[in-house]
Amino acid sequence: MFRNAFALALISTGALAAADSSAVTFNKDVLPILQKNCQTCHRPGQVAPMSFLTYQQARPWAKAMKAAVATGKMPPWFADPKIGHFLNDRSLKQSEIETIAKWADSGAVEGDPKDVPAAVRWPEGWQIQPDIVIQGPTYDVPAHPKNNVIEWVSVTVPTGFQQDTWITSVQIKPEYPAVTHHICLGFNRHDAGVKYFEPVWQDKLRDEEGSAIPGKAPTFGPATPGGRPRSMAEDCYLPGNPVADYRDFQAAKLVPAGSDITLNLHYTPNGTAVTDHVQIGVTVAKEPPQRRYVSLSASAPSDPAHFAIPPNEPNWQSPPAEITFNQDVELVYMMPHMHVRGKDMTYTLIYPDGKRETVLSVPHYDFNWQLGYNTTVKVPKGTKLHVDAHFDNSVNNKWNPNPNKTVYYGEMTWEEMMFPFFGVVVDRSVEPSKILTGRGPVPPGA
Ligand code: HEC
Repeated sequence: MFRNAFALALISTGALAAADSSAVTFNKDVLPILQKNCQTCHRPGQVAPMSFLTYQQARPWAKAMKAAVATGKMPPWFADPKIGHFLNDRSLKQSEIETIAKWADSGAVEGDPKDVPAAVRWPEGWQIQPDIVIQGPTYDVPAHPKNNVIEWVSVTVPTGFQQDTWITSVQIKPEYPAVTHHICLGFNRHDAGVKYFEPVWQDKLRDEEGSAIPGKAPTFGPATPGGRPRSMAEDCYLPGNPVADYRDFQAAKLVPAGSDITLNLHYTPNGTAVTDHVQIGVTVAKEPPQRRYVSLSASAPSDPAHFAIPPNEPNWQSPPAEITFNQDVELVYMMPHMHVRGKDMTYTLIYPDGKRETVLSVPHYDFNWQLGYNTTVKVPKGTKLHVDAHFDNSVNNKWNPNPNKTVYYGEMTWEEMMFPFFGVVVDRSVEPSKILTGRGPVPPGA
């Protein structure tokens, strides 16, 4: 009797000690991951619907967290980790995914209060010291989305620049980050006839579900009255993404006098109606910089003979977008852009000696997250940038509004685009219009 009890006691102390040293706790193991990779969105006032600052907030989501990180749904980051190198990479390491899984599977324990790391101090307001603040639009975000879609609208505003201006950083600042999913903008030449501060698209987006009108111009954003496409995704506000700062590359971007800004605003209503007011802060170079940052894009051919996605086709391969660099450039930014049927996109450099290097692969594109990938790749003159993409026009694609339609190229969301954006840095003396030849609209500002 005595001996049995003694043996039992020994066994249970041993088991406890072993469990203790291997136990995954919230305070010690999980919270540091949430601070680094999740709280940027999962905190009060930010875009995610729930906060993960404390154990009490995170505990009910343990199983959902495990599922979201295991499937790669969270954090939103869609580059194949085996390919390329990204300065703004926020993906989880395999060991971190396993830590969250273990925690969720072993009772989601809190752990020792002494292990709680210091709270992160999140930046609020301006993160750059803007030299100029441009007033963007105001937008009425309803309490609830109509038809469950992200509110999406584009608006053009004047820069008010009286002279050509070298800008060194851009911060897009919504007043209500809690409802702001993302905002992108582009600088465009002023067109007589443009209506400032007037939202375009929102109602059309909801009313239509498919278009049978083939052969739109390869535009991104509403075409100008003259038919020239407007650039709308040179810089983006994305929750938790760093501000676009060209000083990191000893560079600046030239914005010609009198340019306009076209913004592309995406809101996620959260139950409380608000009127958001967007401001755009820029810093300005005191003297012309060594190097210039140029926002560029390419496109698959957009005519219906080349670009028509058949009904119910689960894996349609688009003809590639391909350009040739006529200058040495440093490739610093890539942003795949497709619409709801977009499935994957791959950026490959083909060097003058024929060597191929894939610099970005997004195997599971998600239209809802217009993510940009910051990198740095030295690209010699004569190199081609070749971009491939596939589209899923089947019922398996949960975003597909109608799998029974042929889908043509166009800027509306029920049409499709195959439109890789990228950013390069070149010597200041290089003319933007001389950087590349090949398929792709003329760079804005050129
Ligand atoms: C860039 C912003 C952002 C980051 C970073 C982020 N989330 Fe989210 N998360 C969201 C938004 C927005 C939603 C709600 C809409 C959705 O599901 O896409 C969400 C939803 C979720 C959900 C609910 C998923 C579901 O299927 O309902 C979980 C769980 C979650 N996030 C966990 C995480 C974890 C864990 C991390 C970090 C490893 C993380 N998120 C990082 C923005 C973010």
